Amino acid sequence: MIRKYRIGNPIPTDSVVKEIVLSEGTIPYFDRNDEKKELTLLLKKNDRVYGLGETVRGMNKRGWLYTSNNSDDPNHTENKNSLYASHNFFVVFSKEDQFGVYVDTPGKVSFDIGYTKLDKLRVIFEDFDADIYIVEGESVLDIVSQFRGIIGRSYIPPKWAFGFGQSRWSYMTADEIREVADKYQEAGIPLDMIYMDIDYMERYKDFTVDESSFPEFPKFVEEMKERGIHLVPIIDAGVKVEEGYDVYDEGVEKGYFVKKENGENLLAAVWPGLVHFPDFLNDDARAWFGNKYKVLIDQGIDGFWNDMNEPAIFYTQDHLDEIFEQIDEYKGKNLDVKAFFEFRDLVGTISNYPEDYRRFYHEYKGQKIRHDKVHNIFGYNMTRAAGEAFERISPDKRILMFSRSSYIGAHRYGGIWHGDNHSWWSHLLLNIQQMPAVNMCGFLYTGADIGGFGSDTTEDLVLRWTAFGIFTPLFRNHCALGMRHQELYRFENVDTFRNIINLRYALIPYLYSEFMKAALGNKMLFKPLCFEYDDERSAQVEDQLLVGESIMIAPVYTQNATGRYVYLPENMKLIRFRAFDDYDEEALGAGDHYVKADLNEILVFIRKGHVLPLAEPSKGMECNLNNAELKYICYDSDAASYELYTDDGVSRI
Ligand code: GLC
Repeated sequence: MIRKYRIGNPIPTDSVVKEIVLSEGTIPYFDRNDEKKELTLLLKKNDRVYGLGETVRGMNKRGWLYTSNNSDDPNHTENKNSLYASHNFFVVFSKEDQFGVYVDTPGKVSFDIGYTKLDKLRVIFEDFDADIYIVEGESVLDIVSQFRGIIGRSYIPPKWAFGFGQSRWSYMTADEIREVADKYQEAGIPLDMIYMDIDYMERYKDFTVDESSFPEFPKFVEEMKERGIHLVPIIDAGVKVEEGYDVYDEGVEKGYFVKKENGENLLAAVWPGLVHFPDFLNDDARAWFGNKYKVLIDQGIDGFWNDMNEPAIFYTQDHLDEIFEQIDEYKGKNLDVKAFFEFRDLVGTISNYPEDYRRFYHEYKGQKIRHDKVHNIFGYNMTRAAGEAFERISPDKRILMFSRSSYIGAHRYGGIWHGDNHSWWSHLLLNIQQMPAVNMCGFLYTGADIGGFGSDTTEDLVLRWTAFGIFTPLFRNHCALGMRHQELYRFENVDTFRNIINLRYALIPYLYSEFMKAALGNKMLFKPLCFEYDDERSAQVEDQLLVGESIMIAPVYTQNATGRYVYLPENMKLIRFRAFDDYDEEALGAGDHYVKADLNEILVFIRKGHVLPLAEPSKGMECNLNNAELKYICYDSDAASYELYTDDGVSRI
């Protein structure tokens, strides 16, 4: 059962697509304090809190303060409050309590979950305007499923997007990309996608291709397709200010860019220097920007990633001017600590400067609204621009789309990646822990930058991360400019990498089936153990996941480990994979086990009464679209069945 309550006069987000009649009276579970703009509830000793999608810390969110304020912050350390997304749905869950809460508001809102006071959950609003949905159900899975039912079906990518993808910020030319494809081919490692970062564009202009470094682009796209590789370009939120550039000229002429109070287009800066931001919240501007994707689709492109759409702002022209004025005041002065810190912060805090988000306005649903009031739905509406346009441009065929910034609702138009992580072991664990939380909020096609984006990686980290990544729908190795190269063929253990990637391809019939069942049935693909097992120990487990109906995984996420402790809530069969056709099986009883897992081994546990289908791995998805040759690994010899989902992988459903 879902009840909806209204506080104040909320700006609609369109995240809920099902009509729900407003309930009168007080919001269940919460105390409301209008003066403090807060909702509070008392947490019982054993209450755990799950959800909030892409946030820092563990699966159980208790103990920290999370702020929905989409931010381009590439240091996802545990002291941070905001990442790129606002996923304001959570479930309070214990033997005594079981209810879900969705706080639908496009502005800033914080969730103090036992941070200020251990036993208090506070929802703290900047503007006390929101729709609050209270979801009750038979189980936590039922609550999630009901919630997913009101926010609309999750995005379904083409099946080829379940293949392996290689990316790096700094593939500068078509030849560099050819080399990546060649090297993967030589190493015998299947590859389905190569991502094109900002370097493919002509001076970072959206929907352009640099002629000199990527000559005859459509031919190049075709050539790569013939090799079974989809090129997936990035699209950024900012449109370069440059007369004669059609996207800029049209946007200015039609008034589609966000404007300052005085009606001038906001001048902000990102990769190309000065840009304007399209007003994705405005229906006409959204449709116009969405149609631009056709420029690349017409050249053979069938997938994109949307970036910098929080939006990230290096600086605004107005703020920069202010800084230059102020900086002079420090000249010739003895800077004491206070003055020095001020001076340092003047430039040091220039990017993503909070005041800049109050300098511009949107035309949203017939109203002029200051950006900060709707900040968290900006990236969502960029993804929506693409998703809505794809339905017009490509009515029959699915197009790959995922975004960095998001809000619930964006899950209908695309997936997400988890932003600029680091090559840190702690970020492998974070990746594991974020998966169920984003699923709860509707995002199913997700994954992190495998190997880590920032910082230099190590071979063992890439091995362990890839070994986990084979289970995530978005399976992409991506890395930042200037960092150690981490394409798999560059490492010593190429054979192990080949085996791991082949195992991914062998698992595709299962992963795709489970993904589709999750998308079509409003289910989670990744679940914490305690969503299915109600024993005390399962509730404590933060580093194992149920993936689909048949398996549990226990990834290794610490350096130099040759195994790990694994908790089994019931008897399971351990499959220790070295390759899709090289593994040992061991029946293990419920309880704690220390399980060996060398660098070349992947632990998969088959659940009681369940079956894991495996295909012969193929050279790439083109060859893996039919599931003719499947073998089945079963928990035991008793009869068990598995429902396999198949389709042509590209038609829209
Ligand atoms: C942002 C993205 C990253 C990309 C980079 C350059 O940091 O998050 O994935 O490589 O921009 O486009």
